Amino acid sequence: MGRAYVYVILGGGVSAGYAALEFTRRGVSDGELCIISEEPVAPYERPALSKGFLLPEAPARLPSFHTCVGANDEKLTPKWYKEHGIELVLGTRVKSVDVRRKTLLSSTGETISYKFLIIATGARALKLEEFGVEGSDAENVCYLRDLADANRLATVIQSSSNGNAVVIGGGYIGMECAASLVINKINVTMVFPEAHCMARLFTPKIANLYEEYYRAKGVKFVKGTVLTSFEFDSNRKVTAVNLKDGSHLPADLVVVGIGIRPNTSLFEGQLTIEKGGIKVNSKMQSSDSSVYAIGDVATFPVKLFGEMRRLEHVDSARKSARHAVSVIMEPAKTGEFDYLPFFYSRVFAFSWQFYGDPAGEVVHFGDYEDGKQFGAYWVKKGHLVGSFLEGGTKEEYEIISKATQLKPAVTDLEELEREGLKFAQTV
Ligand code: FDA
Ligand code: NAD
Repeated sequence: MGRAYVYVILGGGVSAGYAALEFTRRGVSDGELCIISEEPVAPYERPALSKGFLLPEAPARLPSFHTCVGANDEKLTPKWYKEHGIELVLGTRVKSVDVRRKTLLSSTGETISYKFLIIATGARALKLEEFGVEGSDAENVCYLRDLADANRLATVIQSSSNGNAVVIGGGYIGMECAASLVINKINVTMVFPEAHCMARLFTPKIANLYEEYYRAKGVKFVKGTVLTSFEFDSNRKVTAVNLKDGSHLPADLVVVGIGIRPNTSLFEGQLTIEKGGIKVNSKMQSSDSSVYAIGDVATFPVKLFGEMRRLEHVDSARKSARHAVSVIMEPAKTGEFDYLPFFYSRVFAFSWQFYGDPAGEVVHFGDYEDGKQFGAYWVKKGHLVGSFLEGGTKEEYEIISKATQLKPAVTDLEELEREGLKFAQTV
């Protein structure tokens, strides 16, 4: 015998928190909803871990960043879940799921049954071992996915003041952590295989501007190469990294951000998997009609592009969560999930937003000289499909978001370049 719930959310990250709030708004009853999570804390805003959490002065700490403060909404503390009759099963890993029987088996040996399951298992950080490099279990090699990782990184940062850090990976984790390390007075060298940072999104021109700024802050870049091995002291602490191009970099601290893998393994062979995620329809419903998937683990149809996508960003986690709950609680009133992809980042004094799809031809606009406000549009098959803006106001971001959603026709790229932000304003 085990416990039985009407609704079970598997995973206790960003999307779980936003789903819980939506359940209460749509009238879930006491004892109907359970969240089961491997993490020992209630859902929180994961983006804080690479930003406010790593600050040397007055760093962000829980309970200040529990969901859903990131969307300027209620802060759901453990007390909130109790008051709303939501069972929060923390520090508990789900070992297996039987989709046909509608049951989960926890690491404590308990069986939990559901009528509706929402998969919100997110993703795990890729390990260097998966690329043939051993030693990433050393105490001064840090990954960053959850609170435990962030606590460890903060401790290692404290003991590395004025020391050397090597940051492996030029994506989001690499860029945001490098900025945080500099703010903590640590010398940073970034190592990544591509020709420029943020290669999945930035154009060379955009990347160059950020890289120049990082260089002015003392950051060194070693591009076009990867790590091949670590060197250790007698306590198995890493003292240096060796790169494929032959360079040798002394290191008091290594931060690794080389991408993620969605946590789908519990469902392989039971649900349809596509593009690395659980395939869902525009109702966030998987190939089993009682099972929904949200956040980083879900591959869903992005109507605007007519394609299945899996996104790894917080806005999509929040909105897909709300949508799935709305479908489950009020199916007749809920339409299709019509989502405009939205990514953002904040590093040093920079802050940018991106909407849509970075595909097709690129047109840059704005002032790349003073670097205060600049942007880019992506144009595919004669239509605007993506917009990037650094240093915009709230209103300007709304304008580029609305314009991108409309996919307006673009006939003359030179005119688009001349018009810049004005183009979005007049769509
Ligand atoms: P999320 O990873 O938040 O939660 C998954 C949960 O499931 C975890 O609690 C995990 O322990 C649990 N779980 C997994 N398997 C389980 C099992 N078998 N049993 C029990 N529990 C299990 N995005 C953005 O747009 N802007 C930003 O600035 C940032 N910044 C940022 C910083 C850092 C450090 C990270 C790691 C990520 C970001 N992101 C971001 C990405 C964003 O945080 C991410 O898209 C969301 O957290 C995804 O939410 P999910 O709920 O899907 O997964
Ligand atoms: P990423 O996909 O952004 O970047 C991975 C980077 O790893 C690549 O840019 C590449 O430079 C590097 N890389 C790949 N293989 C490598 C190898 N063998 N050796 C060295 N480098 C290699 O992933 P991430 O930076 O690890 O971020 C993890 C997740 O967290 C992503 O889902 C990301 O969206 C999310 N995140 C988002 C934000 C944000 O949206 N602002 C901030 C932090 C994290």
